[in-house]
Order: sequence, then structure tokens, then C-alpha cells
Amino acid sequence: MPTTFPLHSPDFYTGDPYPAYKELRATAPVCFNDVTNFWALLKYEDIRYVSTNPDMFSSAKGITIPDPVFPNPVQEGNLIFTDPPRHRQLRKLINTGFTRRQVAVLEPKVRDIVVGILDDVRCGTTLEFAEGLAAPLPTRMIAELLGAPADDWEQFRTWSDACTGVDDPEIELDSFVAIGELFEYFQQLIAARRSEPRDDMLSVLTTAEIDGTKLTDDDLLNFAFLLLVAGNETTRNLIALGTLALIEHPDQRRRLIDDSTRIPGAVEEMLRWTSPVTHMARTAMADVELRGQLIREGDTVVMLYGSANRDEEIFGCDAEEFNVTRHPNPHIAFGCGEHSCIGAQLARLEARVFFEVLLGRYPELELVGDVDRVRATMVPGVKRMPVRLGTGC
Ligand code: HEM
Repeated sequence: MPTTFPLHSPDFYTGDPYPAYKELRATAPVCFNDVTNFWALLKYEDIRYVSTNPDMFSSAKGITIPDPVFPNPVQEGNLIFTDPPRHRQLRKLINTGFTRRQVAVLEPKVRDIVVGILDDVRCGTTLEFAEGLAAPLPTRMIAELLGAPADDWEQFRTWSDACTGVDDPEIELDSFVAIGELFEYFQQLIAARRSEPRDDMLSVLTTAEIDGTKLTDDDLLNFAFLLLVAGNETTRNLIALGTLALIEHPDQRRRLIDDSTRIPGAVEEMLRWTSPVTHMARTAMADVELRGQLIREGDTVVMLYGSANRDEEIFGCDAEEFNVTRHPNPHIAFGCGEHSCIGAQLARLEARVFFEVLLGRYPELELVGDVDRVRATMVPGVKRMPVRLGTGC
């Protein structure tokens, strides 16, 4: 009888889930959680299979681990909750705002923001890394993309924290209140961009057209909301947990200080090693058998990316090691298939520039207290992480 683990509980993900993942990959790679009723998938190939078969595994009925207290929040018509063919059409339209070129032109802006954040830090001081350094960049970039006034980013952060941290007792703002305020704010912004377009992504999307179809106000509203929730805490988590990995592996940090051209590869390894989004879920649309287990039509299937990203069959016998020069590194931290992350290039850009500037200025990083995580099953972000930054001077 294999050991059972509390895969439904936020505490499982805020702790260290990796030993349990390893055991489950070996003993029960497709296992049922009978507390909140879902199948968990631990193996890389199974997760690829589910992600690339949207006709058989739907996103429309929920994409998170079932939570009896907060029933699956589905937002009908929102990109991430749609299946083909509607998903393909929506995604094509939205992609017009996320081309490689459009993301690349953001680099000077990203660098300005990072330099501005680090200009306020004095060498040798201890600071709250997660709040002070990791959090501002992703939120400010989303405000930038949407063409929202720069000063509104703090408010964005409060709303986004309330939406992603519903299980965390320290987050006071009710998620429903946050969603209401956020929608009202975006409604006004969309109306403003429709009447006076600028060169931001929201303006591009108000005019985007494919096969005679345009995005409606509801589509834009859903998308602006998704952008804030999907792009904020995730990237913050990558930057904070990536920094923690560099603190815990000084030999790997040294390799980046000695040769900064290794940073893009290091960001891929941080994505693999930390898997900032723990899972996404699907609903089986027909009975299907996976590794001898019968998954019935209507069952929820949860894809544990952190486990897939350490699957020995893909990453070899050093899968549990953090190695910034790992190559190849086919991680699926951004998911894969139809719904794979639309903001992946932006997240990569933000993290690369952040670590280039951080390590260029402060090669010495020291953890000087406990790391506190947000109580959440999907993005158990870093709440507190006191770090001392030094130059060696
Ligand atoms: C380290 C940072 C990030 C990680 C780890 C991450 C992870 C993911 C994952 C795993 C999915 C797949 C969803 C699925 O298969 O159901 C996804 C989708 C998505 N992500 Fe990200 N994400 C990150 C950053 C961002 C950013 C910066 C943005 C935008 C500003 C963004 C926007 C989206 C959107 C819109 C989707 C839905 C795509 C679709 O349904 O077609 N993400 N992300």
C-alpha cells in the first residue's frame, strides 16, 4: 500500500513537496485523493498527454485542485477556462499583443524598473526581499502592458494578492470584493482605450481582428483580469524562489557571477527547480485509462508540474539537483499544449534582467531569517524572505 500524502492541502505545497513527489512517481504515479476527490498525475509524459489533448481533458469546468470551502472558481469565457475551438480563436487574438517583438521592446522598461528598485537598496542592509524586491517588477509590468497609470500598481498588487491568496489568513481583502473593484477599474480603462487608443497592449487588443472577429468588452475585461492574476504572483514567485535557490547553492551563483551569459539558462533551471505554479487541473470528458487506473468521465485530473519537472525519466539521475548549466532542459513550468503560458517570454525577460542587475551589483546574498509562504495550493508565493545584499566590500 503506497503512502498517502495530503495533496489537497495548501500546507503540503508551502512545505517541501519534493520527497513525496519522488515517492509517488515510483509507487503511485496516478493516484486518487479522496479528501477533495481528484486524480493527481506525477509523471512528465502523463501531464504532456493530458495538456495536449484538450478534447479529452477540458479546462471549462475548473483548473484548480477542488476546494470544498471555495468551490472551483470558473469564469466562463475567460481564455484559461475555454476549450477549442473557442480557445484557439481567443488565443490567436490575444497573441497579437504578445508577439516576441512586442515583448522584446519592453526590455529597456524592465531594466529601468529593476535599476530603480535596486537604486533604493544600500549595500549591507537587510531587507524584505519578497515584498521589496521581487514583488514590484511583475505588477508594474502588467500596469505598463495595460497602459494603466504607473501609480496604480500598488492597488493592482492588493487586488491580485486577494484573488490568489484566498486560503491565506493574513490576506484581509475578500476575494469577491477585490474582483468587483478590479472589474470596475478595468471597465473604465477599456472604455478609455477604445475612445483614445495608445500604444499599449490593451489598445492593440481593442482593435485586434481575426476572420472578421474582434474581442468584445467582456473578452477584454476577462483578459485584463487574467493577466493580473496569472502574471503577477507567478513571476514574483519565480524571482523570490530563484533567489533562494542561488542563496542555497553558492557554487551555482558563482557560475553566474563569473559568466552572466549563463543567466538565461539559469532562469530555465529556476523555472524547473521551483515550478512557481504547482498545478493546473482538467476534467476528463470520457472514461480513460492511465497507467492502469480508470479515470471516469467527469473526474478531475490534477497535473503536478513540480513532480514532472523532476521526473528522472526525463531529467536523469541528477533531476533533484539545481544546475544552472543544465542542458537540455525541457521543463514544463509554463505548462504545455494549447494553454501553455502566453506570458512565458515576458516572465523570462523579467527574471533575466532582474538577475543580471541583482548579481551585477550584489553578488553576495545571505538569508537572515525564516522564509514564509502564502497558504495556497496553486501559487504558494513567498510572503517574507529577509535577505542581506552585499558586494563583498
Ligand atoms: C514564472 C512565471 C509564470 C509561470 C510559471 C506561469 C505558468 C503558467 C502555466 C503553467 C499556464 C498553463 C495553464 C494551463 O495549462 O491550464 C499558464 C497560462 C497562462 N499564463 Fe502564465 N505563468 C507565468 C507568467 C505569466 C505572465 C507574466 C503572464 C502575463 C502577463 C501570464 C499569463 C498567462 C495566461 C494569459 C495564461 C492562459 C493561457 C491560455 O489559457 O491559453 N503568465 N501560465
